[in-house]
Formats: sequence, structure tokens, C-alpha cells
Amino acid sequence: MYRSHTNGELRLSHINKEVTLSGWVQKVRDKGFMIWVDLRDRYGITQLMLDTDRTDTAVLETAKTLGREFVIQIKGTVIERQSKNPNIPTGEIEILVSELTILNEAKTPPFTIEDKTDGGEELRMQYRYLDIRRNPVKNALIFRSKVAQEVRNFLSNEEFIEVETPYLIKSTPEGARDFVVPSRMNEGQFYALPQSPQTFKQLLMIGGMDKYFQIVKCFRDEDLRADRQPEFTQIDCEMAFVEQEDILNVFEGLTRHLLKEINGVEVEKFPRMLYDDAMRLYGNDKPDIRFGMEFGHLNEVSQHKEFGVFNNAELVIGIAVPGGNTYTRKEIDTIIKWVKRPQVGALGMIYSRCNDDGSFKSSVDKFYDHEDLAKWAKVTGAKPGDLVCVLSGDTNKVRAQLSALRMELAERLGLRKPNEFAPLWVIDFPLLELDEETGHYHAMHHPFTSPKPGQLELLETNPGDVKANAYDLVLNGNEIGGGSIRIHDKQIQATMLKHLGFSDEEAKAQFGFLMDAFEYGAPPHGGLAFGLDRLVAILGGQETIRDFIAFPKNNSGRDVMIDAPAPIDDDQLTALSLKLNLKS
Ligand code: AMO
Repeated sequence: MYRSHTNGELRLSHINKEVTLSGWVQKVRDKGFMIWVDLRDRYGITQLMLDTDRTDTAVLETAKTLGREFVIQIKGTVIERQSKNPNIPTGEIEILVSELTILNEAKTPPFTIEDKTDGGEELRMQYRYLDIRRNPVKNALIFRSKVAQEVRNFLSNEEFIEVETPYLIKSTPEGARDFVVPSRMNEGQFYALPQSPQTFKQLLMIGGMDKYFQIVKCFRDEDLRADRQPEFTQIDCEMAFVEQEDILNVFEGLTRHLLKEINGVEVEKFPRMLYDDAMRLYGNDKPDIRFGMEFGHLNEVSQHKEFGVFNNAELVIGIAVPGGNTYTRKEIDTIIKWVKRPQVGALGMIYSRCNDDGSFKSSVDKFYDHEDLAKWAKVTGAKPGDLVCVLSGDTNKVRAQLSALRMELAERLGLRKPNEFAPLWVIDFPLLELDEETGHYHAMHHPFTSPKPGQLELLETNPGDVKANAYDLVLNGNEIGGGSIRIHDKQIQATMLKHLGFSDEEAKAQFGFLMDAFEYGAPPHGGLAFGLDRLVAILGGQETIRDFIAFPKNNSGRDVMIDAPAPIDDDQLTALSLKLNLKS
């Protein structure tokens, strides 16, 4: 038996008990006549003590050889501590050691295994197994497990069936590039790893499973960000005989369940916002509604003077920054510099100070008088003491720029509180999105998404105006999940694919199996997928998903611990018929 108790377990009630403990050496303090060792495992830390009076000399000698992260086993007696440590649950006791076995020695770790470590990100990724011993990473993984467990509890209670779908499949059009896997047995042919199990879950509905879910890995070859990994996990769900309302209700229920069980937070019914309103008021389809700062529309109150910048702009919009009038000129200049960075791309920023006495002072006083600026304040909802920040330009660009500024200023003002949760549904997404570069439309969600009733005809005349039965769940400014009611009619699916630029042959080759299935009694169905990594991170009060993934990839998509991706040897290339192709 390696241990009778864990290192987080023993209390004053165990005094005089003989125990066996195992774990890693966190710290050794050697005072010559006394040695203390902090022994750590997943459950906590227990202090061991040895002294010249009571401990066998051989045991003391072994203790003197201990280094950080050695794996040891001890036997001893629980005793009350002389000086107690109120900061840890085991802080009132210690173990008087009688036997000590070194189970394994350890090299000195490349960074300290402490909550605040001296190791940089790259180094910790390289030795992730050591990083996992640290509380912040360990706790994040335990937290993730708890969330996944609660998801399973909730969905199982709702009679969802967990079904696994294959990983070696054919391309699924979710909008990213595929990771591909060469087939040895089928020369020159490739599997694609699923960007999501989208088509399979629809086939499960045709198969009569009715309510499906899966906590499943998805793979997307796309540029990485704090909230994106090339392989990530979805809580993927589908239901048959449902309308949008049914789906929103079930998954609002799931989200509410998680907020309650995990965070102890009760949330009212989730607000719903039209996609068009989200774009108009927040410049973004995933607005953070924990704070105001909605866009005020200034075209009418700013295009009547000689200020060419505004007069030539398609859209002039502004936000009121609460308390922003305290910013110095220098601070405002740094904000202007910030919006002019290439990542944001604004050409400049106009501002108007709302003074406490009701007067205004703007950067364009030459053009606008008190009456004009009072209107700006009214439109943006600015109060005395606030600062109105105004951007102008092409609608899409300026919305994105002001949205970025809104989030940045809210962050600086501490308005994005991690323990405050503001979920919302964004609904009625456009069915199609215009690719400005190619001039082609592509599916905004995916090609299996159903247009809203009665909108099919619009596809011919105004494709950009067609709205879809598609929805996203947004939590604190992050897209946590998305889904749609699907097309379940072969003809409509064929029309959709045609509009997306697929020829009949291409449509048949890529999605023939699904279209065929539609001919065998496809029920009306729909679903959604939550990003588990994102959900866990947000519930955990953070936005970087890497911290909640056991073995994440870095920003170049590399696993620096196992050093992947890596070249493969010639024999493998030959067996996969790749060698010639690569060299030719
Ligand atoms: P969608 O593409 O919106 O929908 O993905 C669903 C959710 O998955 C998460 N997500 C990601 N998380 C981490 N890294 C990534 N690279 C990444 N990409 C997406 C997001 C997102 O909201 N098949 C549809 C769902 C459906 O229609 O039922 C789908 O995959 O949180």
C-alpha cells in the first residue's frame, strides 16, 4: 500500500494515528537537528518532520539527500504542530516520520513548482507535466472535468444519448482548412479530420436517435488566438422534431445549470438580440453586455458642418466612456495611438469632453458648437464627467474599430468583471456572407443551415439579406456556442449548395451521402455546439483557453513538449505514397 491517506486529508482529529503517505517533495528545510519536508500530491500539502531525538539516524540521513520533486513514501504518526499554518487545511498537524523510502529521484525542475513560478510560458509548455503539478494548472484541469461532468449530468437527465462519431472522415465545411490524413490502403487518397461532427449528427437524427450529444475533439487548421486551438473540444448536440425555440430553451437550461452548479450564480432568462441589432449597437456579433457603452449614431448630428472627415464617411458613431473626462491629454493621445494601430486600423479619433458644469470641449471645436456637442452627448448617452469617442468611415470597418475600442476601454476601466456573467442569445444571423476578396457568398454558419421561413425566394434576388434560423450563445463577449435549424429537404439543400457555388457534381461528390439520406425520411432537426474549452475558461473567469487544456499547442500550432509536427521517415512516406508527390 503506497498510502493510507492523501496529503490534503489529515486534521487534528487524526492525532496519534499511524499513517502512510506518498507524494512529491515540495520543499526541505534542514535545521541540522530538525528537518521539515513539505510533501505534495494532487490533494494538498502535508508537513513531515524528523528530529535527532525521535527519528532513526538512517532515516535522517536519507532525508538529508532529498531534493525538490523527489517521489517519496513515508510512514509516521500524526502530531499537533507547534506553529500552525492557517493557510492550508492540513496546517494544524504534521507527521513525525519513522520510515522514509525514496521511490524515485528527480532532476531539479527547470522552473519552480509554485503557484507563482519563475518559468516562462514556452518553458512550462515544454515541461507541461511539471506545470500540471502547479495549483493553477491542476485546478484548471479539475475545474474542466467538473464542468464536463455537469454537462453529462444535465444532458443525460434530458434523455440525450452520447454517441461517438468517426475522426477519419471527409471534409466538413465549417469554414476553416482541414487537417488531412493520408490513407495507406487507398493510395493517393486522404481522410480529413472533422472540423465538427456536423453531418454525422444530422445522420443520427435521420437514424432516429432524436437527442444526441458528444463531448468531442474537433480539428481546424486556422490561425490561432487566445480563444482558438487547432484541436479543441465541442459539446456537440442535435435534436429532432424541434424548432429554434426548443433548442434555445434546452441549452439555456444547460448554461443556467452550469452557472448554478459551477459558479453558484442564478441568471434570469437570457436576453435575445437580433444579429442586426448586435452589429448596430456593439459593432460585433458577440457583444459583452456586462456594461453599457452602446454605439450612438452621429451621422445626423455631425454631417451638417464643414468637417470633411465626417461628411465623407458612410457611418459616424461614438461611445460614451464613463468617467473618461478625467483622462489627460496624454492619456487621450495614447488611446488615439491605440485605435491607429494596424490591428485596429482607424485613421484617427475625435473626442468631446463632457465637463461637470455641462460644457463641452472637443477636438473639433472649430467645427462644432455647444449645441452640436450636446447632441453627441445625448445620442451616446454621455453624462457630465464622461468622454465621447467618435470614429467614422465605412460601416463594417468603423463598427469593428469602435467595437475594439469599446472592449479595450472597458477592460482598462475594469468593467469586464470575470465573476459577473451576462449570457445572451444572438439570433437571426444572415444565411450568407459576402467574401469581399472573391465576391462570392459563403454560408455564414454552414451550408446545412435553414433559411428563415419564407426567405428562400430572396436567395435569387438579395442573397445577402436572407436571414437564417441560426443562433449563437454569447457569454461575456465570447462566442460560446452556435447552431441552427437544418435543412431537411433534399431540394432545398441542393438549391443552397448551388447558391454557394457548388456544381451538381461537386455537391454530389461532397455531400451526396447526406442528400441521399434526406430521401429516406429525414425529420425536421436542429442543434448546436458549445466550445467546451471556451465555456470552461469563461466560467473559470478567464479568456485564454490554453490554460484549461492539459496539453495545448502554442501559437504556431506546435506541441513543444513532444515536438510535433515533425518530419516522418522515408519508409513512412513511401508507404503512404507521399514521397514522389512531395519531390515532384
Ligand atoms: P461553430 O463552428 O460555431 O459551429 O463551433 C461551435 C463552437 O466551437 C467553438 N470553437 C472553437 N473553440 C476553440 N478553438 C477553435 N478553433 C474553435 N472553433 C470553434 C466556439 C464555437 O461557438 N457544427 C456547428 C454547430 C452546429 O451547427 O450545431 C459548429 O461547429 O465556441
